[in-house]
Amino acid sequence: MAASAGIVLTMCVLCAATIRTGFALHTVNAVYGETIVIPCGHEIVNELLFAKWKYENPDGTPVFIASRSAVKNKITYDNVPEYNGRLDLSENYTLSIINARIEDEKRFVCMLITEDNVFEEPTLIRVFKPPSKPEIQEQPRIMETGKLNKVGDCVAKDSYPYGNITWYRNGKILLPLEGAVDIKWIKEKNSTSGLHSMQSSLHYMTTKDDIGAYFRCTVTYFMPNGQVSKESDPASFDIYYPTEKVTIQILPPKKFIKEGDNITLQCRGNGNPPPQEFIYYPPGHEEGIISSSAYHITDIKRNATGDYKCSLSNKNMMASTTITVHYLDLSLSPSGEITKQIGDTLSVLCVPFASKNISVTFMKDSKVVSALPFNNLQYRDSGIYECLASLEEEGLQSRKILNLTVEGKPRLKLTKNPSSDGKTKTISYEVEGFPKPEVQCNSAGNVLYLNKTEETALSNIKYSAKIIISPEENTTVICVAENKLGKEVRSLNVSAINIPEQDEPNDRSDDGSDHAKLIVGIVVGLLLAALVAGIIYCVYTKRSKSATKHVGKELGNTEENKKLEENNHKLEA
Ligand SMILES: *[C@@H]1O[C@H](CO)[C@@H](O)[C@H](O)[C@H]1NC(C)=O
Ligand SMILES: *[C@@H]1O[C@H](CO)[C@@H](O)[C@H](O)[C@H]1NC(C)=O
Ligand SMILES: *[C@@H]1O[C@H](CO)[C@@H](O)[C@H](O)[C@H]1NC(C)=O
Ligand SMILES: *[C@@H]1O[C@H](CO)[C@@H](O)[C@H](O)[C@H]1NC(C)=O
Ligand SMILES: *[C@@H]1O[C@H](CO)[C@@H](O)[C@H](O)[C@H]1NC(C)=O
Ligand SMILES: *[C@@H]1O[C@H](CO)[C@@H](O)[C@H](O)[C@H]1NC(C)=O
Ligand SMILES: *[C@@H]1O[C@H](CO)[C@@H](O)[C@H](O)[C@H]1NC(C)=O
Ligand SMILES: *[C@@H]1O[C@H](CO)[C@@H](O)[C@H](O)[C@H]1NC(C)=O
Ligand SMILES: *[C@@H]1O[C@H](CO)[C@@H](O)[C@H](O)[C@H]1NC(C)=O
Ligand SMILES: *[C@@H]1O[C@H](CO)[C@@H](O)[C@H](O)[C@H]1NC(C)=O
Repeated sequence: MAASAGIVLTMCVLCAATIRTGFALHTVNAVYGETIVIPCGHEIVNELLFAKWKYENPDGTPVFIASRSAVKNKITYDNVPEYNGRLDLSENYTLSIINARIEDEKRFVCMLITEDNVFEEPTLIRVFKPPSKPEIQEQPRIMETGKLNKVGDCVAKDSYPYGNITWYRNGKILLPLEGAVDIKWIKEKNSTSGLHSMQSSLHYMTTKDDIGAYFRCTVTYFMPNGQVSKESDPASFDIYYPTEKVTIQILPPKKFIKEGDNITLQCRGNGNPPPQEFIYYPPGHEEGIISSSAYHITDIKRNATGDYKCSLSNKNMMASTTITVHYLDLSLSPSGEITKQIGDTLSVLCVPFASKNISVTFMKDSKVVSALPFNNLQYRDSGIYECLASLEEEGLQSRKILNLTVEGKPRLKLTKNPSSDGKTKTISYEVEGFPKPEVQCNSAGNVLYLNKTEETALSNIKYSAKIIISPEENTTVICVAENKLGKEVRSLNVSAINIPEQDEPNDRSDDGSDHAKLIVGIVVGLLLAALVAGIIYCVYTKRSKSATKHVGKELGNTEENKKLEENNHKLEA
């Protein structure tokens, strides 16, 4: 116990001694190029004769450099080439050395000499030089992920003593790590200048996290008052990484594609740099089409519907999208200009061909109609029919037009006009038919004149006019209405002007139609000037029956005509 206490005590004494020695040796830290100021370090002694400065070579041999006489105030600088012109020895024996050099790192000794003694006080000089600002050299422009990439060589030049280089990524220190961070460190001393240059090369395992990262290096070095750092400019890199995913996009982006659109398929890879070349696989195109841009389809057709794929040019990574080309066609049968005859049947079929289920609308003269097709066509059925369909979301619509013209042979009706001025008699006719029938009237016998007034249109298929006649004697007026479909002949017995009209049997008609399905029987009779009137009994086919019915409606049936005749007669009488 006592022994160990003794050892501790001895150690403490040794420690104190060392510390004291440390304090005893003066040290002057100087900055390279500046002035080194070395105080003598010893208090000025009494009876001082002169002071002298020397330095000691590494082997201990002294070199005297300057001296100052205390009495005569005279300074002498020894001829030492190294220090010629660089020294200044002041009154208080402080030695100044301008333009500090590395070689000035020596032990300088201030000697105070009295008559009987010499006092020596050594001072150790240390010189510090900061390095140049570190520079990252040999920087690549890019770094590739998954590799040890060179980040650069960090170079800091001409320091004394040497400094250390440290690398930082985003402000965080980078320490060597097997396979990830590789730092090679070189320092060189220039034997001429005695200065150190440092270089540190960094290789770094790059990942996608390094996108946008910046690297710096710093040099840490000693200066008289401690450690100092200088930092380089940041270095950043374009990080190259492979494509991990390809995508395919339809441009311009729209919800629906319809026939006639122009579209572009754009394949993209998420790598950097983005891949420039792709293979596009339209439906049914196994081997694909290599393209360095996009794949364009102009005026797309419905048969372009299908799956479109694309891959990288090495056939890696596939992306696919489905294109549905919407379309809408209408098939209207019949269509265009259609001419039918009254009573005919017309079957109209409008079938949509579309990419979706769709229904069609019919319009007649811009009004929606529901009843199609037609049986028993009438004149009023003439018009413009439209079959319409639309896929509104897709922006598609289609219409087809049917222009129906219903034609009919003439129907003629003659009536006696009850008014009479004693010189003339008036007969009216009404004619119906399409195309518009021509009406010609004649009379047999002794007639001064037979004038016809202008026709008035009662509708687009019905016209009327008056026949003014001056019969000297009983006569028969025969009118013929004719269009391309046939003609109708009607006659009316008119008695002489001086005889008032009396009951007459109904006028005889002659249906001059060339209708194939009519069976015509003709009875011929003589009337006054041997005029022939045809009495026709018509036997109609199924279709024609409806026509008969129609005529009945338009012109009145026989029964009605008779009544009309009776009325006329009564009024005339
Ligand atoms: C010695 O003199 C110099 C200038 O001549 C002065 O700067 C310095 O402080 C003095 N040193 C002492 C120890 O008096
Ligand atoms: C060493 O330093 C001297 C003087 O400063 C200079 O001229 C020379 O180029 C340097 N040598 C090298 C290898 O840097
Ligand atoms: C440089 O690094 C060495 C070893 O780590 C160390 O002893 C020295 O003090 C460092 N120098 C500076 C200037 O930091
Ligand atoms: C598609 O492109 C052609 C020419 O390339 C152009 O004439 C046409 O108008 C375009 N169609 C559409 C719907 O933009
Ligand atoms: C698609 O139809 C158009 C005509 O509409 C034709 O020219 C083209 O060859 C067709 N394409 C395919 C792949 O069948
Ligand atoms: C279209 O209509 C048919 C028959 O009515 C039906 O079977 C089919 O599912 C419909 N399609 C769509 C897309 O509505
Ligand atoms: C329909 O047909 C009639 C007779 O042929 C014609 O006069 C008319 O201009 C046509 N209308 C249209 C819209 O085609
Ligand atoms: C009949 O027409 C003729 C010539 O067109 C004319 O001279 C005569 O006056 C007309 N008669 C009547 C009653 O309008
Ligand atoms: C003319 O007709 C009237 C009756 O309509 C008749 O009474 C007269 O006898 C007829 N005249 C001649 C000459 O036939
Ligand atoms: C017209 O008169 C003739 C002769 O008088 C006669 O045979 C004929 O039946 C009459 N016709 C009509 C429709 O009254």
